[in-house]
Amino acid sequence: MKILSHGLRMLGLAVACAGSHAAESPTYAKDIAPILNARCVQCHRPGEVAPMSLLTYNEVRPWVKSIEKRVLVEKSMPPWHADPAHGTFKNDPRLTQAESDALAAWVKAGAPMGDEADIPPVREFPGGWVLGEPDYVLDLNPYEIVADGPDRFENQAAAINLPEDRWIRAIEIQPSAKRAVHHIFAYVSEDGKKVGGKIGEYSAGEGPVVFQPGSGRFVKKDQPVVVSIHYHPHGEAVVDKTRIGLYFADGKIERESVALAVSNAKFKIPAGAKDYEVTASHTFDQDATITTLGPHMHRRGTDMTISAVFPDGRTETLVKSNWDPAWNIKYELAQPLAAPKGTRLEVVAHYDNSADNPNNPDPTKDLTFGVDEMMIGFVDYLVDRKE
Ligand code: HEC
Repeated sequence: MKILSHGLRMLGLAVACAGSHAAESPTYAKDIAPILNARCVQCHRPGEVAPMSLLTYNEVRPWVKSIEKRVLVEKSMPPWHADPAHGTFKNDPRLTQAESDALAAWVKAGAPMGDEADIPPVREFPGGWVLGEPDYVLDLNPYEIVADGPDRFENQAAAINLPEDRWIRAIEIQPSAKRAVHHIFAYVSEDGKKVGGKIGEYSAGEGPVVFQPGSGRFVKKDQPVVVSIHYHPHGEAVVDKTRIGLYFADGKIERESVALAVSNAKFKIPAGAKDYEVTASHTFDQDATITTLGPHMHRRGTDMTISAVFPDGRTETLVKSNWDPAWNIKYELAQPLAAPKGTRLEVVAHYDNSADNPNNPDPTKDLTFGVDEMMIGFVDYLVDRKE
């Protein structure tokens, strides 16, 4: 790749020197803006999680060196923590080889603007929503987040108020204090206290939840909802007002998307333990189709692997997350996976509760399930709809 981009530059220079046509190096307008629009601006825009906006050339220009470092050298942007040895995912945001090559060649050429006429339209987010204005918005109460201190986990109850029961095809959860909200899970509830099935989730920079065509989730017209929010103070006192946008399904819904939590809530991770393993499993009692995997741990988690053992004995690793507690990424399978009745999901998680773990706020503490640590393999799957 190095040689190729160097070669490109040489070619560009040679052509430029000959003075025949314009150098062939990539330009912002033609080559780079589309990459940033597709892979960066959902987070790098005003009001979002990232520290700077990358919507226009003038905004991008001062960050070119930093972009080169984070995207091409460290590969820490866009954030993605699935071990590449397992699975292919449709929300994998990493640059393709061609995109990386174009970005490298553009940086080497001095990050030229190109012809303004080629700039694609700045991506718009009406009302701040990625999916556009929702059919129904559920507003949560404002919550004050202090400037400093430990992370907080808050539950809030609200109720959907609709003229009739509906199937939803998508759900988008939008906190207003993006930089102070780590993640949010929204559950339906019978009584506004105990949580039932998960209907949607948000986590820093993640897109909305869009169900497979022909599938969805069901909400009752007066459905209580319990929302669990992980706040992360970041040096500035702010007030969060979270909105939940529902998008109704119009066509026929043949399959229901079920949110499963494969969890172990009984562990105790001893203080100082280094490579502590916790496991959980779940066996499907009906035919299912797995669509999405969401490993979830807190600050001492280091990795989580979710595998399927099929009734014929075959085992497949679906995802291995090299867990980074800053990010709560869900992995959407490029090809939904048939899990016939009797398929067993196995979740294996590791924790580093020692002083060697830079993310560990207190290595002298035994950890149990709750605010201190978590062990959940979220798995979304489809089942034929019950009439
Ligand atoms: C899922 C959200 C998300 C996406 C997608 C994303 N970023 Fe970021 N980016 C962040 C956040 C949050 C930070 C600040 C935390 C950090 O530095 O890790 C950041 C930091 C950065 C920084 C470092 C800024 C500094 O202060 O030095 C650069 C450069 C960057 N991103 C470039 C990109 C580029 C280019 C893309 C697309 C190819 C991209 N990011 C995609 C969320 C995102």
